[in-house]
Amino acid sequence: MNVLILAAGTRNKVVQYFRKAFENEGNVIAADASKLAPAIYDADKYYIVPPITADGYIDTILEICKKEKIDGVLSLIDPELSLLAENSEKFKAVGATVIGSSYALCEMSLDKMKMYEWLTAHGYRCARSWKDKNEFYKAADAGEVKYPVFVKPHKGSASISISKVCDKESIDVLFAHEDGLMIQEYLDGQEIGADVYVDIISGEVVSVFTKKKLKMRAGETDKAVSFKDDRLFALIEKFVIEAGFSGQVDIDIFEIDGQYFISEVNPRFGGGYPHAYECGCDHMKLILENLRGNANKKNIGNYEEGVYMMKYNEIMMRKDIDEKNTCIG
Ligand SMILES: Nc1ncnc2c1ncn2[C@@H]1O[C@H](COP(=O)(O)OP(=O)(O)O)[C@@H](O)[C@H]1O
Ligand SMILES: [Mg+2]
Repeated sequence: MNVLILAAGTRNKVVQYFRKAFENEGNVIAADASKLAPAIYDADKYYIVPPITADGYIDTILEICKKEKIDGVLSLIDPELSLLAENSEKFKAVGATVIGSSYALCEMSLDKMKMYEWLTAHGYRCARSWKDKNEFYKAADAGEVKYPVFVKPHKGSASISISKVCDKESIDVLFAHEDGLMIQEYLDGQEIGADVYVDIISGEVVSVFTKKKLKMRAGETDKAVSFKDDRLFALIEKFVIEAGFSGQVDIDIFEIDGQYFISEVNPRFGGGYPHAYECGCDHMKLILENLRGNANKKNIGNYEEGVYMMKYNEIMMRKDIDEKNTCIG
């Protein structure tokens, strides 16, 4: 079995974990648009590919799949998830399974307003949200929502352009300077991250890892601690099954007074996944088993509680990077 990791970027650990799982199985191939993406150098082989927006990008990836006899392909960045899902039949035709969710679900996850609408329609607790600031002002005047509120781009990522806002004037200023913003009730509680694997053969949730986020830095979890709560596992399972997610899913949740609010979903390996893996939730092995055509057994919450994750910096040094050469195979 061979696997292709697209937009590998700086996710060296994810590449290393795949290599460990695929050690006696086959190759882990990585691709990125940049030769300076350190994670590609941890793969068995790497490709420098055009940006995902380039004409013929998918054809380039399909060629790599054919050449390397790729069985499973996945991406580590949000904008590529829908693109892979949309072309999953083409990948199937060359023998590669797209490890990810459907096109509709990838699109819904990208758009926080669409996700809010789905969550409320299906009875899940979440932050009330408005795209139209005048609708929000009406709700605020009626006393339905109180300041502070949270303003963020409805299609944002990496915590860019997020603000905690205490008055109407600040909302007016933010909306005057940027399009595509939304207003959310402020969730004042414990932030939680969940790393979930939905078996792509059986469709069942087979692994869930949850952690309390203790410190965030530059949009990523910097320090966290593992914990377990059966009530949360049950909520996560119900949610991912009802929505129809598949493969790896990363979910942001808030806990307020014992109640769980679903905040954001990224249907891919999140930046904090190494915490789950190091605690024993090896989702690369689950992917390998799925690619072999076998379903995995349900194994939810099989990890230790109270294990702390502290991120720190690493660097990679190389001399063999040819800045002119655009396609290293
Ligand atoms: N409604 C909210 N109330 C309080 N904090 C929020 C709210 N929405 C987002 N945040 C904070 O902002 C961060 C980024 O927001 P999120 O919706 O996860 O977008 P993204 O991760 O795509 O940038 C979250 O991790 C959380 O710390
Ligand atoms: Mg988030």
